[in-house]
Amino acid sequence: MIEEGEYKKRRDTFSKVLQDNSVAVLLSAEFQTRSNDTEYPYRQNSNFYYLTGFKEDNAFLVFVKVKKKLRTILFVQEKDEKMELWNGKRLGEQKAKELFMVDEVYSSKEFKTKFEEFVKDIKFIFYDFAEKYEKVKFIYTYAKQLSAYENLAPLINKMRLIKSSTEIDCIQKAIDITQQAHHQVICLNKIGKMEYQLQAEIEYIFKSKGAYSDAYISIVACGNSANTLHYISNDKSLEENELILIDAGCEYQYYASDITRTIPVSGKFSEPQKELYEMVLDVQLQIMQLIAPKIKRSYLQKRSEELLCMGLVRLGILKGSMRKLLKEKKHKKYYPHGIGHWMGLDVHDQAPYKDEKGKEILLQVGMLLTIEPAIYIDKDDETVPEKYRGIGIRIEDDILVTQEGHKNLSQGIAKTIAQIEKLFDYERD
Ligand code: GLY
Ligand code: MN
Ligand code: MN
Repeated sequence: MIEEGEYKKRRDTFSKVLQDNSVAVLLSAEFQTRSNDTEYPYRQNSNFYYLTGFKEDNAFLVFVKVKKKLRTILFVQEKDEKMELWNGKRLGEQKAKELFMVDEVYSSKEFKTKFEEFVKDIKFIFYDFAEKYEKVKFIYTYAKQLSAYENLAPLINKMRLIKSSTEIDCIQKAIDITQQAHHQVICLNKIGKMEYQLQAEIEYIFKSKGAYSDAYISIVACGNSANTLHYISNDKSLEENELILIDAGCEYQYYASDITRTIPVSGKFSEPQKELYEMVLDVQLQIMQLIAPKIKRSYLQKRSEELLCMGLVRLGILKGSMRKLLKEKKHKKYYPHGIGHWMGLDVHDQAPYKDEKGKEILLQVGMLLTIEPAIYIDKDDETVPEKYRGIGIRIEDDILVTQEGHKNLSQGIAKTIAQIEKLFDYERD
């Protein structure tokens, strides 16, 4: 649980980068329409949440810095019995003032008038210009008129790069729940089921163990479906001799987990499946070993491509000299994506990969990234030995950079062939 003091500390850190005589405005997320008049469950904007911990919509956070004096102001929806009857309780200004350690709290209805007041003497405005909601168009217009503005999102995204111990605790909790979900589907008798039925088992565990939501739509991809990178239809039947790629992670107290395991429907890997699986796993383990402070993520990328390319040659999937294959990027056909990404409040945390000068950011203690090498071989790829066709394998863990090097926060999730097969058998003995 993240305490209000931590959000205040983040606001203090953020306010230090604001220049004098400036205003910064952050907006809560909007409800997203699902169809007609139904909406998706509400999820707060990650940057807004990072600085407030406030979960309601129609809210604004404002920093006003004039003559080196800082005011932090939160605008929240006012109490409204009728609206609350339909849409749920609101905290209201009074409670928000008690709970959130900001200087002033007002009703969101007052935002426009107050905004005009705040900007009277200011010379610079910070705003997230990706947010062009009609109702706050005046902020956008004002900034353009002032022609002295900066996008504030990158400033917060940068802060989000290094996780505090309480953030790591939330992520670890998300991973621990996710572990139970992955283990549950490994154990299940899957024959005769549909992909979405495994998805249901996973999501049942997420919610029943205390994670309100998934961090992203679960991918449950059997056989050749695994070769579609963002496969989310999950609507095919599970075939006995195939592998299932399951990329699923829950969100716990707004923090994501992001785990992929690839497991056999029958409980047992076939020989060709084993050969490919061992190859991807070996690359994943080797890359994780390289993670330490001051290492470049691009080095992990390059090394993973070399190792996978080598593996593809060894299995006869690619032919020719390693140097030429790598130069011509032939391996990209089978491993077209990155080795991993930052993770935190967003599954793909918006933290930057390069600094202001365009130089790559080196790994530092407290950063958290996924490591997810993969091999995808289409069922119709006639250049590949037949036994490997229609197989997609990805193995993904969540890794914290530590003083000693790294810690695999998802170490407890079954991953070796022996562990996966044993877990399946154990349930049947
Ligand atoms: N689950 C999305 C990803 O692995 O990046
Ligand atoms: Mn990922
Ligand atoms: Mn993933």
